[in-house]
Amino acid sequence: MRILVTGHLGYLGSEMVPVLRARDHEVIGLDTDFYGSCDFHAVPVDAPMLPLDVRDVTVTDLAALDLDAVIHLAALSNDPLSDLDPQLTYDINLDGSVHLAEVAKQAGVRRFLFSSSCSLYGKGGDAALDENAAFHPVTPYGESKVRVEQALSAMADDTFSPVYLRNATAYGLSRRLRADIVVNNLVAHAATSGKVLLESDGTPWRPLVHVLDIADAFAAVLDAPAEAIHDQAFNVGRSGENYQVREIADIVADVVGDCAVGFGVNASPDIRDYQVDFTKIHRTLTGYRPRWTVRRGVEQLWAAYRHGGMTADMFAGPAYVRLREIQRLRAAGAMGADLRWSAA
Ligand SMILES: NC(=O)c1ccc[n+]([C@@H]2O[C@H](COP(=O)([O-])OP(=O)(O)OC[C@H]3O[C@@H](n4cnc5c(N)ncnc54)[C@H](O)[C@@H]3O)[C@@H](O)[C@H]2O)c1
Repeated sequence: MRILVTGHLGYLGSEMVPVLRARDHEVIGLDTDFYGSCDFHAVPVDAPMLPLDVRDVTVTDLAALDLDAVIHLAALSNDPLSDLDPQLTYDINLDGSVHLAEVAKQAGVRRFLFSSSCSLYGKGGDAALDENAAFHPVTPYGESKVRVEQALSAMADDTFSPVYLRNATAYGLSRRLRADIVVNNLVAHAATSGKVLLESDGTPWRPLVHVLDIADAFAAVLDAPAEAIHDQAFNVGRSGENYQVREIADIVADVVGDCAVGFGVNASPDIRDYQVDFTKIHRTLTGYRPRWTVRRGVEQLWAAYRHGGMTADMFAGPAYVRLREIQRLRAAGAMGADLRWSAA
């Protein structure tokens, strides 16, 4: 297939592109490249691309590419970024996504894979939540995911099959590393300070999934017949991979060794607390086989941080924390308040 991957230069996208190519898909990227200075000792992914903001894409841009599918990853990718200015999250993650889907549909693209998030479940009870569970988003980020899914669903018809991949929280090595997601963060803390520092009281539940298992899930949706995925939501992750944050900390301390588990100064209960059921994706996409566990991911990160020389200064800097990098770029005048690049 010929596939447009938006956000292909981000944490998930830069690992997804090689996975798609290995399956003989032709990939064209689209990214405004907010995090061009944020590589972690790796060659950036190299793909033909449209250097565009999703808010500005036109039907002409996409029609010229003769695409079979769009994988839409580009977004402000976490809660702290959405707290910076909630309106920006609605502009990019909600309105930008709906705009992209509309132009894709008009350009004749038949399949649209949206990178949604389990965070739209927000606050769950003790039971694991399946795709029919109620939405309780607790941030603009989570709410934007709900509203995009609803808008895309209204666009579904014989010519256009949207699919909503509700990823668990990702972990694992990527050439565009993020250290602002829980597993990667705890390992970086341990590697640079000898302490595993929890920012919550450690009790919340989180579903977790490796970046490469997310890439395989998107590839499996591309392989599936349209009737199996048309207007469907899939929780993306693996049974048995729901953890309390405290358990993740214990795994990190065990793998890194000689680490004390402690609580940060602002540690408090976290309102995002949910366990997720992954039965549907395994039942429907029979070729999908997630391979990673959190323990293996922690081992991978620990080895990478040691060999790549993750220092306390690097960890404290902007390169691997999305909010800090956006703040740095804004303060330097490289982009405006609307996160569009300033004229050179
Ligand atoms: N990483 C996770 O744990 C996780 C979990 C669930 C869902 N997701 C979703 O997956 C997607 C990718 O996440 P990620 O971790 O790779 O994020 P990321 O921040 O590493 O990458 C996002 C990419 O999108 C690009 N981008 C952002 N706004 C853009 C715009 N307006 N126009 C064009 N490009 C733009 C950025 O330059 C960046 O390359 C996001 O939609 C995110 O919400 C991520």
